[in-house]
Amino acid sequence: MFSSIGVVFDIVNFLPNFVEEFNCMKEYTRAQLALRNGQDKEEIWCGFKGVIYDLSSSRLWHDGRHYEHWAGLDLTSELEEAPHNERVFEKFRIVGKLKS
Ligand code: HEM
Repeated sequence: MFSSIGVVFDIVNFLPNFVEEFNCMKEYTRAQLALRNGQDKEEIWCGFKGVIYDLSSSRLWHDGRHYEHWAGLDLTSELEEAPHNERVFEKFRIVGKLKS
């Protein structure tokens, strides 16, 4: 009971900060994201749920390729094929948001 009140409290506190940060993020088009595919430019970026992550430091995304998946794209729908969940993104820098 008390712990669930704690969770609600955490969400209520955290959400406005997240919304504010998201609104202030720089926005990139799909074409700009596509250039960061690990082939055309050095940076390796990937879109996920409207947010763009910088995966350049990952050994597992070397040259923009990760198993059968490619950087420079919105990979939201492809995560269901992965043996892991979205927490894998937590340690990477957020570059900005993806223009819809
Ligand atoms: C056939 C599909 C896939 C396989 C077999 C696969 C496998 C793996 C494995 C074994 C790891 C390292 C262990 C772990 O963190 O759990 C990993 C990390 C990661 N995966 Fe995948 N993955 C797949 C698809 C995807 C997709 C579609 C995305 C993006 C939506 C993704 C994003 C990541 C990221 C960001 C990491 C962290 C990389 C790092 O820590 O350097 N993966 N993946």
